[in-house]
Amino acid sequence: MSARYDEIYGHWKSDPESFWRKAAAGVQWTRSWDRVLDTTRPSGRWFDGAQLNTCYNALDRHVDAGAGDRAALIYDSAMLGLQRTYTYMELRDEVATLAGALHRAGVGHGDRVLIYMPMIPQAVMAMLACARIGAVHSVVFGGFAAQEVATRIDQAKPRLILCASCGLEPGRVVEYVPILREATAQASFKPDATIVLQREACVVALRGTHEVEWQAFVDNAKPADCVDVAATDPLYILYTSGTTGQPKGIVRDNGGHAVALYWSMRAVYDIGPGDVFWAASDIGWVVGHSYIVYGPLLAGATTVLFEGKPVGTPDAGTFWRVVSEHKVNVLFTAPTAIRAIKREDPTLSMAADWSLASLRALFLAGERCDPDTQDWAAQSLQIPVIDHWWQTETGWSMAGNLLGIGLFETRAGSAGKAVPGWDIQVLSDAGEALAPGEIGAIVARLPMAPGSLPTLWEADERFHEVYLSEFPGYYKTGDAGYIDERGYIYVMTRTDDVINVAGHRLSTGALEEVLASHPDVAECAVTGVRDALKGQLPLGFVCLKAGVVRDHDDIARECVALVREKIGAVAAFREVVIVGRLPKTRSGKILRATLSKIADRVDFDLPPTIDDPAILDEIAEVLSSRQ
Ligand code: COA
Ligand code: AMP
Repeated sequence: MSARYDEIYGHWKSDPESFWRKAAAGVQWTRSWDRVLDTTRPSGRWFDGAQLNTCYNALDRHVDAGAGDRAALIYDSAMLGLQRTYTYMELRDEVATLAGALHRAGVGHGDRVLIYMPMIPQAVMAMLACARIGAVHSVVFGGFAAQEVATRIDQAKPRLILCASCGLEPGRVVEYVPILREATAQASFKPDATIVLQREACVVALRGTHEVEWQAFVDNAKPADCVDVAATDPLYILYTSGTTGQPKGIVRDNGGHAVALYWSMRAVYDIGPGDVFWAASDIGWVVGHSYIVYGPLLAGATTVLFEGKPVGTPDAGTFWRVVSEHKVNVLFTAPTAIRAIKREDPTLSMAADWSLASLRALFLAGERCDPDTQDWAAQSLQIPVIDHWWQTETGWSMAGNLLGIGLFETRAGSAGKAVPGWDIQVLSDAGEALAPGEIGAIVARLPMAPGSLPTLWEADERFHEVYLSEFPGYYKTGDAGYIDERGYIYVMTRTDDVINVAGHRLSTGALEEVLASHPDVAECAVTGVRDALKGQLPLGFVCLKAGVVRDHDDIARECVALVREKIGAVAAFREVVIVGRLPKTRSGKILRATLSKIADRVDFDLPPTIDDPAILDEIAEVLSSRQ
């Protein structure tokens, strides 16, 4: 059944360099590499010595090949009832002008540009314009609050910020400029200027010389050509949650990224020139970077940029309308989105109004996919529904079913088999290989595949410490699970204090730092609890300082508001319980996993290192009134 996959995976495993050299032929280089793989760095660096331009490969190349009239980007805003298609030539021209404006403003090769924008075409243009002139973009998701943006400004030190005046959420307009004003005031590093694209829903009166209208910024700019950059130069930094309040700046290079994404479009998704690919995610996440922007465009396909939600904009039929109207061939989203649709439209009656004939497959990622959701989607849509597993760090999938190379066999609860490029293993805490079916830490043998992070932004040591030090010779994914006797990988849970809320990664440590800053809080813990829609939701446990006699509900409300103010709405932090004590080990470590299990009402073994087991009964008592 999977002979082709087996053969291709075998080719990769026996000679990774020849495999990726061959794949690199799909990318246009302006200088060839000195070596395909540089193993002097433990994680590996790909295509050392080569030069290319990612924007050229994503846009100009297709125009030069005569496909300028092909649709590159379809913008569909369910929030505004608006659609607009850009051909490759139109998108190339818009990007070249914006790149020219950036260049005129002094942004050059290696400079960082922070992008804080909603799902509008100018956000995609901004990313590609940076790539065009060798600048490094850092996109920050619109749901993050000022303090999170400030942290990213201080880490990335961007010369410019590109933003829109607002994002549109159901029932509310999220004004970005006040958030950015607060963020830039808080940050120690000061960008030269903030360029604001005015949207009709919120036209902002700009202040001073540091806030500039987008239109004025691009007016009369001379279109910029693509500059050659090294394959190993950074294309972007994307911050993701770690275990502390300091996010990790995932670095993506140009060369390996272009090769891996180009290869993945055909091998994983079976998408090529002229096909329509829709990643219903957000450009603020890695899925948006890889598969709204770069992957489909590198492949010469048409990408859909959707501004809206799976439900409520206006209803659970929206996804099917978009598929039908734009003849989407492959849809990629998070299981949460499918659960949201299933909850509102269990019989998929809202798809009846639309033709889904174009749709060949649905891919899911971002969180563990429960078999019920996968089965429901497969039965309702009658197409392959494929779970695949990846991370911001890797930039593309490490496991999946690979439609383009003949692997399609879903196994309930499994995220598929290892993708060529990845030798996935499961190890015990002591670093020993485990037998099929045994649960342990999921790791990938070094070097990592092209496209995955070469390091963390200006934090080489942290990169080694977080990912490479615990299991020498392997990259630690931070996930735990097992591999069955046929090589299918089951990703079960995280091994660190990171939780996954609606396909978004959140650091419980970062949430705890915020709770701890409340004046009445002595000690706290945040843990993920099960949620039927979002997979997990954060739940805060708070112990008050001695002598605090204020109303507990008031304090809980203030804690919730504080997280929203400091981290942002995206944390979906809505619940705090006040407890007398927190369960700890004898060495003082809070037993967060045990707290989750009590909240989820699942059986658990008493942790042998627990200091005082009686606390668990107290916690269970407090939680018994939870819905
Ligand atoms: N800008 C500002 N705020 C945002 C935002 C953005 N870009 N995206 C989300 N938010 C806000 C929401 O408005 C919401 O605010 P609220 O507390 O005032 O209601 C909060 O953040 C939580 O958002 P979300 O987790 O999206 O929950 P929701 O209840 O609004 O929607 C789903 C639920 C299931 C529809 C939604 O989570 C979803 O579409 N999930 C798919 C996730 C996805 O694509 N993940 C990417 C990985 S592939
Ligand atoms: P992010 O970097 O935000 O995309 O989150 C990556 C994390 O999400 C992974 O380390 C996993 O914990 C989880 N994840 C992503 N895809 C899957 C999947 N298909 N199955 C299980 N977990 C997943």
